[in-house]
Amino acid sequence: MAAVPKFKLNTGALIPAIGLGGWSGTTKEQHAQATTWMLTALKNGYRHIDTAWGYGTEKYVAEAIKLSGIPREEIWITTKLPWNHPGLKTAEESLDDSLSNLNTSYVDLYLLHWPQVIDWPDEGPEYQGPVNPRANAPTFNETWAQIEELYKKGKAKNIGVSNFSVKNLEKLLQTAKITPAVNQVELHPYLAQPQLKEYCDAKGIVLTAYTPTGYDIVRSDPTIVELAKKYKVSPAQIILAWHVARGVVVVPKSSNASRQRDNLNLPTLSPEDSQRVTSLNRDQRLCNKPDEHGIVSGWSVEQMGW
Ligand SMILES: NC(=O)c1ccc[n+]([C@@H]2O[C@H](COP(=O)([O-])OP(=O)(O)OC[C@H]3O[C@@H](n4cnc5c(N)ncnc54)[C@H](OP(=O)(O)O)[C@@H]3O)[C@@H](O)[C@H]2O)c1
Repeated sequence: MAAVPKFKLNTGALIPAIGLGGWSGTTKEQHAQATTWMLTALKNGYRHIDTAWGYGTEKYVAEAIKLSGIPREEIWITTKLPWNHPGLKTAEESLDDSLSNLNTSYVDLYLLHWPQVIDWPDEGPEYQGPVNPRANAPTFNETWAQIEELYKKGKAKNIGVSNFSVKNLEKLLQTAKITPAVNQVELHPYLAQPQLKEYCDAKGIVLTAYTPTGYDIVRSDPTIVELAKKYKVSPAQIILAWHVARGVVVVPKSSNASRQRDNLNLPTLSPEDSQRVTSLNRDQRLCNKPDEHGIVSGWSVEQMGW
């Protein structure tokens, strides 16, 4: 298998361009199952795992790494500061929770999971009830200032954001002393986000694609299926290859050993074929979709900058 490419972040760090998505469902049982398929992924060559406090899988990442016997420093771990913590805990307390779950003294990348702060009863990551914005919560600028301190202390080797639009990045950069290294957002051929990509490129912020394969709807698009036949790979491999050719990190989640291997082993698309994939864009969100009132997780589409 060819070596997984790495992208340079604004800190100089090299992030593996293909990571394993670490979301494993909403129940405790589903979280615990992650150990098995994360271990398979590590055995299959993954050296980058994307998790979050809010996924409930941090401790299973730790278990899988321990069982793999691979030294911690050979694995890139990303985790995220959850949207219910700001104002209730300092960023350092949030990260300390995650470090304890992950059984490590540092993370390679710490992301502010969402720009908004919500109320989430203290039921842990399994909470599935309504999501309401919290009044008098810290702004993301204030939380970012705390995250910057974690970078200075070395507990987070790189820091970044997630679900940030150009509008909110502009607002963040008005007060930020450190430019985020990464912005992790929903990104796939039906949501190619050309303006956000151009803005992040100009600011030296690397994009990470979540929902990178775009689920069945994008994987069964006729152009993607045609290209899969041409390159003799799966539709998911075409889509992931397109991201990586654009300089976008991908974190596909698969609990299946064979699909995990496929997702690490990508063809090189011709520029014309990459352009064909880019032209499928329809600004369509598939994962975090606004509801019928234009609200996404407590914020309006306008507040999100979508
Ligand atoms: N920052 C955020 O707010 C945020 C939000 C959502 C997700 N994320 C991150 O992004 C990761 C991935 O997102 P996602 O799960 O929404 O999208 P995804 O990885 O594109 O889709 C996962 C689904 O695709 C299937 N799949 C994976 N590889 C495949 C292949 N080669 N062929 C066919 N099917 C394949 C998986 O099934 P099998 O497991 O059966 O293979 C699973 O059902 C998450 O795990 C999480 O780490 C972040």
